[in-house]
Amino acid sequence: MPSWLNDAVFYEIYPQSFYDSNGDGIGDINGIIQKLDYVKGLGCNAIWLNPVYDSPFMDGGYDVRDYYKVAPRYGTNDDLVRLFEAAHRKKMKILLDLVPGHTSDTHPWFLAAKRAQESDLSNRYIFTKSVWDAPPEYRMMCGICQRNGNYMVNYFSSQPALNYGFAEITHPEWQLPVDHPDCLRTAEAIKAVMRFWLDKGADGFRVDMADSLVKNDDDKKATAKIWRGVREMLDAEYPEAAMVSEWCCPDRAITDAGFHMDFYLDHYGNGYSRLFRFGEWGDLAVFNPNGLGDLKGFAEEYLPAYNRTKDKGYICFMTNNHDMPRVPAYLDKQAIKLVNAFIFTMPGVPFLYYGDEIGMRYQADLISKEGGFSRTGSRTPMQWKAGKNLGFSESDYPYLPVDMSDDAPTVENQKDDPDSIYRVVIDLIALRHKYDDLHGNGEMEFLYKEGSTAFAVRRGDLMMFFNPLGKETVIATDCDGDVIYKIGEAVIENGRAVMQPQSFLLIKNN
Ligand code: NOJ
Repeated sequence: MPSWLNDAVFYEIYPQSFYDSNGDGIGDINGIIQKLDYVKGLGCNAIWLNPVYDSPFMDGGYDVRDYYKVAPRYGTNDDLVRLFEAAHRKKMKILLDLVPGHTSDTHPWFLAAKRAQESDLSNRYIFTKSVWDAPPEYRMMCGICQRNGNYMVNYFSSQPALNYGFAEITHPEWQLPVDHPDCLRTAEAIKAVMRFWLDKGADGFRVDMADSLVKNDDDKKATAKIWRGVREMLDAEYPEAAMVSEWCCPDRAITDAGFHMDFYLDHYGNGYSRLFRFGEWGDLAVFNPNGLGDLKGFAEEYLPAYNRTKDKGYICFMTNNHDMPRVPAYLDKQAIKLVNAFIFTMPGVPFLYYGDEIGMRYQADLISKEGGFSRTGSRTPMQWKAGKNLGFSESDYPYLPVDMSDDAPTVENQKDDPDSIYRVVIDLIALRHKYDDLHGNGEMEFLYKEGSTAFAVRRGDLMMFFNPLGKETVIATDCDGDVIYKIGEAVIENGRAVMQPQSFLLIKNN
């Protein structure tokens, strides 16, 4: 287990939207290098970089055309190496995004596989044996290539699924078993990509749709086996490299598959989704001050999963990511401060999505860009300061508009405002680094009462009280100590935490 994860705080950068250093309207790697001190200044010591590989950008770069080449619009491979080096000099880590489940339909592997002539890449993707064979249980593209067969897609139509085989074979004419040499070669090809970037200085990977590799793999055991092989490679060759999975099932991702970390994601209906965005625009979210949320739904899913996996890896909470509407679409400013208090004091490894530190808003009505669709509104350029494109780019044609509102938050107008979300984020990350009890995993107690969304969390000597409700709430406690931090008004008196509406209290026990 890479020891640096224990006190890691990640910052997610969507590269096209962070900082445009050459005025072409699109963010780039040199722009990220220029802003590294800003990221470090937030207290983040690691970065997850969304895909920077060459791509036709039908899905924001998750449609990779060349795993070995940085997209020219972001710079060159050398620029990326310079980013690794600059980050390392500042004691920061960089995770790239690995997309192992599919490629772009313009990837040379796919161009070879879709030809009628057989080659050693014919089985790199999943093709039926005839265009007249398109079983409805699979998502297939039909009748559009020279080869007589239909191919399976993993996400959008432009993203054919790579072939890792089938755990259960239901169509023996075209489905290969997981131990078929060509399927094993697919996994080796992805491992080669990983080695290439790790050798250049990457510190690991965020793994896209990590559970999607083997098909007909209901319990995901065959997919997990492939990842265990990858973990063995890392342990042997790159023991400080880390992998975080987009899986949202810590038992499978951490225990079975060997990921160091798993994202706790907004899969509608699960525990995480209940916290911030549940119901009609968050009306049933735990952190909504209306008190209609259901903390029990969260606690009953999260806690057992935490206890089962805490000795093996980390569950990651995130302020947001590039796939979900930003939280201001659901919650008010005070609630968002509490959300940050929660994310940065919970166990695991926290992730801050660029712009969330200043409360950037979800831009609901934008026309889809590069396969973003409803996600486009969470991917708009970073807002640095007043002026042209809010400091993102000098171009007259930024690839996406910034928030046009008069009161758009920027780093410049938030950073000295004591009432800002920015202030709270900076303070909380600093506290997380300062107190060992807030690092990584460890003993944790979660105290809540059915019917109330107010709750408390004990981690070692620290006690956190949360009152998301819009009314005063009293939480009984035997805690007696010093107030380390608070949001809103709250006090400990006579065995009770008296919490004013939407407040948070962090206490260190004597
Ligand atoms: C999950 C990524 O986060 C998302 O942005 C992408 O569209 C899909 N996987 C497909 O790769």
